[in-house]
Amino acid sequence: MLFNESNISGITVKNRIIRSATHDGLADENGAPNDKLISKYENLARNEIGCIITGYAAVSPNGVSPYPGMMKIYDDGVIGKYKELTDAVHKYNTPVILQIAHCGRQTSSKAIGMQKVAPSNVLHPFYPDRAKELTDTEINEIINDFVNAAVRAEKSGFDGVQLHGGHGYLLHDFMSPYGNRRKDKWGGSLENRCRVVELIIKGIKEKTSLPVWIKLSAEDNRKGGMNIESSVEICKRLEASGCDAIEVSCGTVEDGMNTMRSRLLPMDAVFRYREPCASFPKFLKNISLPAANLINPLIKQPAPLENFNVENAGLIKKSVSIPVIVVGGIHKADDMEKILDDGKADFISMCRPFICEPDLVKKLMNGQSESKCIMCNYCGLVIEKEPTRCLYGKVK
Ligand SMILES: Cc1cc2nc3c(=O)[nH]c(=O)nc-3n(C[C@H](O)[C@H](O)[C@H](O)COP(=O)(O)O)c2cc1C
Ligand code: SF4
Repeated sequence: MLFNESNISGITVKNRIIRSATHDGLADENGAPNDKLISKYENLARNEIGCIITGYAAVSPNGVSPYPGMMKIYDDGVIGKYKELTDAVHKYNTPVILQIAHCGRQTSSKAIGMQKVAPSNVLHPFYPDRAKELTDTEINEIINDFVNAAVRAEKSGFDGVQLHGGHGYLLHDFMSPYGNRRKDKWGGSLENRCRVVELIIKGIKEKTSLPVWIKLSAEDNRKGGMNIESSVEICKRLEASGCDAIEVSCGTVEDGMNTMRSRLLPMDAVFRYREPCASFPKFLKNISLPAANLINPLIKQPAPLENFNVENAGLIKKSVSIPVIVVGGIHKADDMEKILDDGKADFISMCRPFICEPDLVKKLMNGQSESKCIMCNYCGLVIEKEPTRCLYGKVK
């Protein structure tokens, strides 16, 4: 089943393995993919991947990430370069979906050169500068920005778009009672909290013929935030609004390493790439890194490490009739087959395993039983300063 040709929202895929959205840090100053990024995607396609979801692309200038090299899609000037990317991937009959996003509270005003915005002014521990609460007019502008981004995606030759509705970004914040404390028509009831996403889906459907997927965090570990019961209800609403596929993830950036779990925090990488630790003078690093390594095993990490969204995906799948994709700690071929056989999801997606081995699908088809990625999460830290790469064994 895993390696059989299939169809997802009208798109033919060679197999049921999808590359989950992964920020690559390889866009130019305009947010267009550079030649290295195009080659990276071409290489994934050449190696039999079923479908590629791009890294997140910002739909508005105030929705950009603080990580360098983020893709952007709020200007027509980038369409030519995105078209080169889709042409390169399509040579291998591989579909490619553009993930479109607004970072909301999960950026810094300094990085974007203007005050960041969010549904509500909730303090973010990693980005403590306060967000401006969006007005009605500004919310409608962001809805239009998403729709216009999808129009550009269609002109660029993408096979579909995926809304980034998870991981604590703006759309997640709108849907979650933790991030959304509004008392107007955009907050409060589930219906109100879903309004922004539903209007975006409907708007994209009106203006393009692209399938619209969403990735969401079924649970986010925030007090009063997303939980599986409300996520099931949200997914039903989104299906009714025209959503074509749902990718089930979890967590927010606030939530540390919950979205991409590891046994230990990647301390060496923290001291190399995350501020303020990265800028500590050498003598301070020499004292604090060994101390951090000593206490690291005592810091409780989210569990389990493997297949951690599968049960939630199964619950969502039971409640909707559109395809369900599951991501998170999946790295063994047998597990992938079992998830599909058990009817917990229709498609499998992975992120870190493809950073580690872009030719993983081909290897699995040739009998390799699992990914070589050890889920150390060093790649999750390198993106704070440099393009994404596997650093296993390379950081000391
Ligand atoms: C380096 C890196 C970049 C990521 N970029 C994105 C992104 O742009 N959009 C997104 O939805 N998730 C992003 N994620 C999260 C992954 O898509 C995925 O949900 C998470 O890593 C769990 O899957 P895995 O265990 O297969 O890695 C990123 C993760 C990593 C490690
Ligand atoms: S650095 Fe490499 S081995 Fe570690 S999680 Fe990332 S891809 Fe996997």
